[in-house]
Amino acid sequence: MATAALAPEPEIGLTPNVPAPTDKAAFDAAIVDPDSYANEERYHAIFKHLREEAPVYWCEPEGYRPFWTVARHADIKRVELDTDTFLNDPRLTLSSIADEERVKALTGGSDKLTRNLVSMDNPDHRHFRAMTQAYFSAKHMRQLEDDIRALAKESVEHMAALGGQCDFAAEVAVWFPLRVIMLTLGVPREDETFLMKITQEVFGAQDFDHMRPEEMGGLFATIAEFNAWCDRITADRKINPREDVSTIIANATLTDGSPMGNMEAMSYYLIIAAAGHDTTSSSSSAGLLELIRNPAEMKKLRDDPSLLPNAIDEMIRWASPVKHFFRTAAVDADVAGMAIKAGDGLVMAYPSANRDAAMFEGPFAFRVDRANAKQHLAFGYGPHLCLGQHLAKMEMRILFEELLARFDDFELAGDPAWTRASFVSGMKRLPIRYRTK
Ligand code: HEM
Repeated sequence: MATAALAPEPEIGLTPNVPAPTDKAAFDAAIVDPDSYANEERYHAIFKHLREEAPVYWCEPEGYRPFWTVARHADIKRVELDTDTFLNDPRLTLSSIADEERVKALTGGSDKLTRNLVSMDNPDHRHFRAMTQAYFSAKHMRQLEDDIRALAKESVEHMAALGGQCDFAAEVAVWFPLRVIMLTLGVPREDETFLMKITQEVFGAQDFDHMRPEEMGGLFATIAEFNAWCDRITADRKINPREDVSTIIANATLTDGSPMGNMEAMSYYLIIAAAGHDTTSSSSSAGLLELIRNPAEMKKLRDDPSLLPNAIDEMIRWASPVKHFFRTAAVDADVAGMAIKAGDGLVMAYPSANRDAAMFEGPFAFRVDRANAKQHLAFGYGPHLCLGQHLAKMEMRILFEELLARFDDFELAGDPAWTRASFVSGMKRLPIRYRTK
């Protein structure tokens, strides 16, 4: 595909709100600061510097166990592919030492509240992934197309009823993917407010608008509530099997043939509910924002709707809602010339990979016809590559087909806002105006 009429690329450099890298304590603090993830300019200034000057960088923020940040596309792929050397267990996401201690105290010494696919290595990972791989395959997802389109039409009609102005992030984009996930889980519509609260509290744990206050038990109370909900679903699907993913989870067995435990079942529901929700909604909001900010790209898409699948990949590249995952070196290793010691943690900075000029020409420009948009690492890479990628891309394509068919003249009606969260973060406010066709 030719990349015609290049959109101008904004200049990205270190900005006044990014500490000088020579002030290591302040620079390292900025890498873990949730505020850096609610501010695109700040995040990308930090990581552009790292890609260019210190692509594999030893970060020692106060209050955290130190770790390497891996900022370049090629190096992240290398780490993701070498699953013998770089393990998912035990360190999965950025967490302060104080939070790690609290988890240990609450779980009686364990370092986790949940145990799911992304925290597993082989042989368990292979076994647990195989349980739902066929369900989430592109072929099986196509069978859900009509049901997903009905949900997209419902969202679009809701927007029409709002009278030409809405907060797209809060009133549309967060509800549609949640309903799609509920369709795969086969759970009733009346559970949606509960599930919305749970998934936002899990991923928005560092955001003042979304976090559950400590006096109400914080994240631990969220997980306990979700656990009780899962136990009810599991009990039901054992006696009333259906064509949904909950039935697969409820009746799954471990490698020795024994039934899966409640902790593993709860963790499986949680990874599907949480991983499939905020990620997709953030990517949809970010995609619409970029189409509004870049009218020439919107025009290209309207002139040639066959560009939409590629535009969806570009939106996901652009949004990169999963900001990182960790790996831990099992043995001494080398990444881009840096000596990694056994036991060291590595942060794979996905949004940074997706702005790497060595992979993407003019990476800070949003182009619906970018020839290699699909090479983004927003879904990760290798054996842990996002299980829900086909579902995510299909539901976004359907949503944008319906949006573009129903409305015209999209414009911003206020300032967008992003969540403060260093793990999964994205847009929480996108005020827009639009004309119903
Ligand atoms: C735009 C939307 C999405 C993005 C950006 C995204 C991103 C990611 C990333 C970065 C990973 C880790 C991959 C790695 O370690 O290499 C992942 C894993 C996963 N995602 Fe997604 N995801 C999205 C949507 C979904 C959806 C809709 C589901 C629903 C089923 C889902 C379920 C999962 C699961 C179960 C895993 C764990 C896979 C494993 O460890 O084997 N995701 N996703």
